[in-house]
Amino acid sequence: MRMDDTSPPGAGPGVRTIRLTVNGRTRELRIEPRVSLLDALREHLALTGSKKGCDQGTCGACTVWVDGSRVLACLTLAIACEGREVTTIEGMSDGDRLHPMQESFIAHDAFQCGYCTPGQIMSAVALLDEGHSADGEIAEWMSGNLCRCAAYPNIRAAIREVRDATGGAGR
Ligand code: FES
Ligand code: FES
Repeated sequence: MRMDDTSPPGAGPGVRTIRLTVNGRTRELRIEPRVSLLDALREHLALTGSKKGCDQGTCGACTVWVDGSRVLACLTLAIACEGREVTTIEGMSDGDRLHPMQESFIAHDAFQCGYCTPGQIMSAVALLDEGHSADGEIAEWMSGNLCRCAAYPNIRAAIREVRDATGGAGR
């Protein structure tokens, strides 16, 4: 492996160029291999919709999709996402038209501070697609997304409304 010219001895692989496909667009960035997908999105691509809550895999604020499956971006290396499709909350709307789940969160007042909301929405859409849409399942399959404002009843109501309107499909 080529060491970056500025790397001290023993510091590991240096900066390299990687390409990520984010929300359908190919982006090139220069990062060290240790950089998380979350930091690559927020710090290098200015996609700050995905939030850093804990940075250790416990809160779900950073939830994005990789190849259509939800992942915790803080626990995923950006370099591991080369050649895969990354979708963030910025990719959910169609121009100015919000995704039905975004509309439903607004209609049901499913957020207070809004910090957890992007991750909640990424999980909410995915769980319907995963088929975990029964009333008794929604809380369990959303349990990786914490909300310090405790908007949980409204979040579940928003998800149920989209489920009922779409026949269960999230996307
Ligand atoms: S920031 Fe990734 S799980 Fe909390
Ligand atoms: S709305 Fe504040 S953390 Fe969820």
